[in-house]
Amino acid sequence: MAQHLIIRPVARLCGTLRVPGDKSISHRALMLGTLAEGVSTVRGFLPARGCRATLACMRALGAEIHERSSTELTVRGRGLHGLAGPAAPLDCGGSGTTMRLLAGLLAGQGFPVVLTGNAQLSGRPMGRVAEPLRRMGADVRLAEGDRPPIELRGGALHGIDYTLPVASAQVKSAVLLAGLFARGVTAVREPAFSRDHTERMLRQMGAPLEVHPDRVEVRAVERLEPLGEYAVPGDLSSAAFLIVAATLVPGAEIVITGVGANPGRAGLLDVLASMGADLAWLSRAETGGEPAGDLRVRASGLAGVRIGGAFVPRMIDEFPILAVAATQADGVTEVRDAVELRVKESDRIDTLVAELRKLGARIEPRADGFDVEGPVRLRGDVVDSHGDHRLAMALAVAGLVAEGQTVVEDTGCIADSFPGFAEVLGRLGARADEDVNT
Ligand code: S3P
Repeated sequence: MAQHLIIRPVARLCGTLRVPGDKSISHRALMLGTLAEGVSTVRGFLPARGCRATLACMRALGAEIHERSSTELTVRGRGLHGLAGPAAPLDCGGSGTTMRLLAGLLAGQGFPVVLTGNAQLSGRPMGRVAEPLRRMGADVRLAEGDRPPIELRGGALHGIDYTLPVASAQVKSAVLLAGLFARGVTAVREPAFSRDHTERMLRQMGAPLEVHPDRVEVRAVERLEPLGEYAVPGDLSSAAFLIVAATLVPGAEIVITGVGANPGRAGLLDVLASMGADLAWLSRAETGGEPAGDLRVRASGLAGVRIGGAFVPRMIDEFPILAVAATQADGVTEVRDAVELRVKESDRIDTLVAELRKLGARIEPRADGFDVEGPVRLRGDVVDSHGDHRLAMALAVAGLVAEGQTVVEDTGCIADSFPGFAEVLGRLGARADEDVNT
C-alpha cells in the first residue's frame, strides 16, 4: 500500500495551530520515566512510529505504561535497576533515536539484549555509539560495516572522558545514560553544541549532572525522581515546514502555539531571520524544563546565506526544508560542514538534489552540503520521498509554491514525525490530498 500526497499551489495560508509533540523529548520522557521511581504523566506525547517503537521496547523491558490516549501516557517507573531482560530482540523500527539511546541505557544493565531495526535503520552507522560504550566496559557487537543489529552485553561500567568526533545528541545522550550506571565520572565533550533535552530532563529528575562550558559530566545515581506532570512542547522540527511555507506563500500569516525553542534546535530560526524572514515570538514560557512559546510567521522575501560550522547541529533535521526556502531566496545559499546529512533517514544531500531538480530547482551537491541558487519558479512534477519523512514534507511545501500539481510519492513515512501533516496544511488553507494506491 503506497501513499501519495497531491499538492496544488496555494493562494493563501493563514491560521493558528499547534504542531504534534516533540519527537526527541517524547522518546526521552518514556525512557527516563521508566528509569525513575514513581509516576510520570506525559502529555503531548508524539504518537509517531519511532516513539511508538520506543514505547514497545520499554514495555518489553518491563515498563508499565498506560495509554490514556494516543498523546497522554502514564509511566510507572521501574527504578534504575528494575528493568527485565527482554524475551526477544528489541525492534527499534526505523528510529535511530530509539536504537542509540537504548544502547546507552542498556549498557549498564546486567542482561544481554539485541537491538534490531527495519531496512532503513539497518543501513545507518552504529559504530559511533558502540565505540564509547565499549570504552566504558560494555561488550557491544555490530553487524558488518558497524551497522545494526546491536548485540549488547552490559555490566560493570566505568566513567570515561569522551570527545565526540561529530556533534550528535543521540551519541551524547547514549554516553550520559550509560554514565548513570558507571563507576566514577563520565564526561562528554562535543565539537559543537547539540540539543540538550537529555541533560535538561536528567537534571529535572535530580541526576548529578553538571554542564560546563566544554563538557557535560554525570555520575552514577541511586534513584531518579519521576517527571510528575510533564507537558511535551510542540516539535520545532515539524513546525519548520509550516514556518517555511508561511514565509514563501505571499500574504501568509500563521501562529504556531506552544512550540519548543531549545537552543540546540533553533538554528533554522536564526538562519531564516538572517535571510530576511518575518518571525516573532508572541510569548515565551517554559514547558517541561524546555523553552517554548507562540511563534508568528509572516510572508517575506529572502536572501541567500552561507551556513556551516556550529550552526549545522543546531538545525541538523532542517536542511531539506531550508533547501526549499533557498530556491525562493535571492542569490546563492551555501551549506557546508554537513556531511552528517548523508547518514540520516536517506542520504539527504543526494536525495534532496535529485528530487528538487525535478521541480526545476538549481541545486548542486557538495561533499559536505549543497548550493542552491534562487529565486526560481518551481514547476510541479512527480517526486519521491525515498522513505524519508523530512524529505517528503519539504517536497510538499515546495509543491505549495510550484506551478501546477506536485505529487509526492511514498508519503507514509510522514507518520514518522508529523502525523496529520496533510490535515494541518488543509486547515491553513492549502490543498494537500492524500491518495492511497493499493
Ligand atoms: C536526535 C538527534 C539528531 C536528530 C534526530 C533526533 C535526538 O540526530 O537528527 O532526528 O533525539 O537526539 P544525531 O544525534 O545523529 O545528529
